[in-house]
Amino acid sequence: MVRSDASLEIDGPEAAPGPRAPVSRATDREGSRSGNPVPEADVAGMFDAITPVYDRMNTLMTLGSDARWRRRAVAETALGPAEAVIDVACGTGKLTALLAGVVGPFGRAEGIDLSPVMIEKASARYRSMVQLRFQVGNALSLPFADGEFDAATIAFGLRNLADFEGGFRELRRVVRPGGRVVCLELSLPRSRTWARVFHGTFRRVAPVAASIIGGRRSAYRYLPDSLDGFPPAERLALLMRSAGLTDVRFWRLSTGVVALHRGTVPD
Ligand SMILES: C[S@@+](CC[C@H](N)C(=O)[O-])C[C@H]1O[C@@H](n2cnc3c(N)ncnc32)[C@H](O)[C@@H]1O
Repeated sequence: MVRSDASLEIDGPEAAPGPRAPVSRATDREGSRSGNPVPEADVAGMFDAITPVYDRMNTLMTLGSDARWRRRAVAETALGPAEAVIDVACGTGKLTALLAGVVGPFGRAEGIDLSPVMIEKASARYRSMVQLRFQVGNALSLPFADGEFDAATIAFGLRNLADFEGGFRELRRVVRPGGRVVCLELSLPRSRTWARVFHGTFRRVAPVAASIIGGRRSAYRYLPDSLDGFPPAERLALLMRSAGLTDVRFWRLSTGVVALHRGTVPD
């Protein structure tokens, strides 16, 4: 559960610390995982199952803050009219549609997601936006050419990928030199006490809230579990650098329960 309080402000910006660090395939020295251990087919099946309640659950669990986080992510893409953008792990397409609004009818916005049911919902919802297209696909092997986009985004999707750094590498690959890669993701606050309270509450409340609004409790156990061992914001910034992005910066949003990262594809 994300607290709704007056201090839901953005800290930072913070430059990514230090030089590149090697990342092991399993866990690094701080105990962060290098990827999600849950098989992709299970991840897709779980998101297929929660699609009907997904947006309502988001609003409920974030007390509406998710809309503000997405707007902030859009701003960090620095996109303009008639440009091209890809939104990876797009889910029901809320962020993709915001991006499509920025690039306008002469631009291009592509949404891609592993879950066919999510893609079905997104396609039906935004049918009237001519610049917007959704398709099923994997973030770790995007069906697009190198440098095809002016920017790439991933919101609350990275945590689900089998290889976090591989996800950033693929986002970087499809963006032109000078273009931006933006990642919005849950994070653990720096205060250990608040982190424990947040994580514990998320773990207990999410499955109950899901069952109240008609979702599957088990699916909403996966979401808090996927935060266990997920790299902290500083570590994620290093992964972006290792993936070849430069000028990496990040901001902690809403007391640090969410982190927004942005990197640039070098010339
Ligand atoms: C928590 S939802 C986020 C959806 C959306 N971006 C948002 O902000 O609401 C995570 C999404 O990631 C998708 N996903 C998980 N693994 C993926 C992968 N390997 N490739 C593409 N999408 C993936 C899931 O199907 C799900 O729709």
